[in-house]
Amino acid sequence: MSDLFLRACRGETVERPPVWIMRQAGRVLPGYRRLRRRVGFLELCKTPELAAEVTIEPVDALGVDAAIVFADILLPLEAMGAELEFSDGSGPRFPHPVRDRTGIGRLTRDDPAGALGYVYAALERVRRELDGRVPVIGFGGTPWTLATYLVEGSGSKRFAHLLGWSWRDPDGLAELLARIAEVSLAYLSAQIDAGAQAIQLFDTWGGLLSAERWRELARPPLLRVLAGLGRHPRPVPLIYYLRGGAHLLDELAGLPVEVLSVDWRQPLPAVRRAIGPHKVLQGNLDPAALLAPPPVIERLTRELLAAGGGGGHVVNLGHGILPTTPVEHARVFVRTVQQAGRA
Ligand code: CP3
Repeated sequence: MSDLFLRACRGETVERPPVWIMRQAGRVLPGYRRLRRRVGFLELCKTPELAAEVTIEPVDALGVDAAIVFADILLPLEAMGAELEFSDGSGPRFPHPVRDRTGIGRLTRDDPAGALGYVYAALERVRRELDGRVPVIGFGGTPWTLATYLVEGSGSKRFAHLLGWSWRDPDGLAELLARIAEVSLAYLSAQIDAGAQAIQLFDTWGGLLSAERWRELARPPLLRVLAGLGRHPRPVPLIYYLRGGAHLLDELAGLPVEVLSVDWRQPLPAVRRAIGPHKVLQGNLDPAALLAPPPVIERLTRELLAAGGGGGHVVNLGHGILPTTPVEHARVFVRTVQQAGRA
């Protein structure tokens, strides 16, 4: 039984920093890869027994201090009525992207959060099967990051549709973001009801915007989600992950979350100086560093622990683990934290 991760998220003094790995469930482990040869990605997400199995595999195979439920940030958009395809190799695609108010009008599905029952069923199953071994994290995307996919229709380099809309008709885009925020709040609240013990919001593309535009466009719908989750009758620690946000640190200091998760480009001591002592920091080894030889990984991990200052730190990567990472290298990362942290 271990609640080390939750105690660390709440800012309590802990015996050593906990460690988990973003995208630990679905990228490098052999059980997942074997399963994916016979089951499509969306089908896997929608089959709670299989999603639970994949969620738990890294707890057994890597020894991480927390599990993260197997799902995807884009599922609530599908539940809102946007057709979503995952084809092998090319990532997610919305064949009918939402690019104006008419597009918003096509999102007509009733009770989207209710249509995501398979995620709640997976969470209930994970809690039952883990039986307290480690806590389980629920997650979603921020409204802004979800909109990048829904508006562009796929991954993007320039985000011309989304940014174009933001200048042409900011109120229309704000309406889309508000709709996504409302569904996200209901979805994430239901994840807590189903047993999620912490919630992480992924803002993979939040760093696209200048601080001023982030405040205008991305922050209001994000705050709606965070404030709503804060009012849940059984509140859980909230983790906000932002990629490429070194210019947004002043903004982050004021967010109503317990944990800020930052990418590898910002050294933790600098983040700490900018945001003050009150939040826990999560991160932030460069995912590519896990491609280095194991002795180098050990050294970098010890340096990361020192940068975290020994407290107020949840050890993780600065973004998802790369698919080509050898499993043994991920194990070296986890083991080094668990041994060095104890010493
Ligand atoms: O540990 C885990 O992997 C838990 C489940 C999880 C997935 N997606 C499953 C998944 C989590 C936490 C996510 C988050 C997610 N999904 C993000 C935010 C984090 C990040 O990496 O920036 C984003 C932007 C997405 C959207 C998404 N889903 C993309 C861009 C892709 C294609 C490329 C990729 O990341 O693999 C996906 C597909 C996806 N989501 C896979 C998995 C395991 C790969 C599907 C496969 O097996 O082919």
